[in-house]
Amino acid sequence: MKVVLGVSGGIAAYKACELLRLFTESGHEVRVVPTREALKFVGAPTWAALSGNPVSPEVWDDVHEVPHVRIGKRADLVVVAPATADVLAKAAHGLAGDLLTNTLLTATCPVVFAPAMHTEMWQHPATRANVATLRERGTVVIDPAVGRLTGADTGPGRLPDPAEIFQVCLRVLRGRPQDLAGRKVVVSAGGTREAIDPVRYIGNRSSGLQGYALARTAAARGAEVTLVSANAALPDPAGAKVVRVESTAELRDAVLAASTGADVVVMAAAVADFRPATRHDTKIKKTDGEPEAIHLVKNPDILAELGERRRAEPGPSVIVGFAAETHDVLANGQAKLARKGCDLLVVNQVGEGLAFGTPDNAATVLVAGGDPVEVPFGPKEDLADAVWDLVAVRLG
Ligand code: CTP
Repeated sequence: MKVVLGVSGGIAAYKACELLRLFTESGHEVRVVPTREALKFVGAPTWAALSGNPVSPEVWDDVHEVPHVRIGKRADLVVVAPATADVLAKAAHGLAGDLLTNTLLTATCPVVFAPAMHTEMWQHPATRANVATLRERGTVVIDPAVGRLTGADTGPGRLPDPAEIFQVCLRVLRGRPQDLAGRKVVVSAGGTREAIDPVRYIGNRSSGLQGYALARTAAARGAEVTLVSANAALPDPAGAKVVRVESTAELRDAVLAASTGADVVVMAAAVADFRPATRHDTKIKKTDGEPEAIHLVKNPDILAELGERRRAEPGPSVIVGFAAETHDVLANGQAKLARKGCDLLVVNQVGEGLAFGTPDNAATVLVAGGDPVEVPFGPKEDLADAVWDLVAVRLG
């Protein structure tokens, strides 16, 4: 595919080099179109060497090839990363003072913006209005990630991880239905940790990959996503609001709070069923003598609680659970679906080398009042899309 990588003048321009590599290494032909300001951060030779194509911010080079029209018209995808407040404003208003903005006006393919700027600029009503205009036109504007910005400040405005931007672009190239547009979705991911003392905990092997894939794909299908993430060391999925938690109690509070008014809740987190009855305030020392037994008490079952609450009061239209089983997978899954009162239960077999921490997975989705759906072994993102397909049907 022919990809135009627009780069505008922000400090995150250096991260676009990694995005460029992701495209070229997966066989795409990339033409980099930087703005003049972008070249103050990363020079033209870098872009030319990495892309293997000429680089200029001007419409006045190679005029005989009419680049200001040809580049945009030939592209299968235009992605602008980082997109500054300035380039968003120019794109929203149709200004065409350089090669990138001309390309944006002549492109008939999908366009993705990955904004990066200081929080104040992102939240300014002018930028909000420009982003709204672009989105109304069908342009994909990824929400910036939250985190450390150029100076000591933190907040929304960081360029999402290049791998995340790349995933969004691949999905846009593949074409995704916007069947979750306007839906509020909550996804839990990762594994909870129960503290024994300030340094030790009881945890599990969940990497969070499946839950993050669910959050990312839901956002790509238009949903407003809150991801409640328990101890996952993964970049924020593009377009999702991330709430970080550690223990089951924190996960419960965050999920219940986010579930108010939500259409869908997906509990992909591996939740610790038990926690130590007491948490030592100081580190347990070897010199304290023989270790005490750790007495465990039960944790609340969040998924079951969501199901129970929905019976008593209006709640999410669709509740999805996950079940990791080592044996009697389907029988245990069916019993769990009924016991927890959810609409869908994604059941997979776990054990050595299966599911945890791997990019691929296979599963059976049990459907309340319907036939199970088999999802063949493949990327966790495909399983996530299969789940959202079933959710979209139930949402009507
Ligand atoms: N779950 C939850 N709260 C818990 C335990 C599990 O919300 N305290 C959710 C998980 O997020 C998952 C589903 O329930 O969506 C099933 O988790 P699993 O650990 O397989 O179920 P358990 O209830 O622990 O059943 P068992 O121990 O019998 O396997």
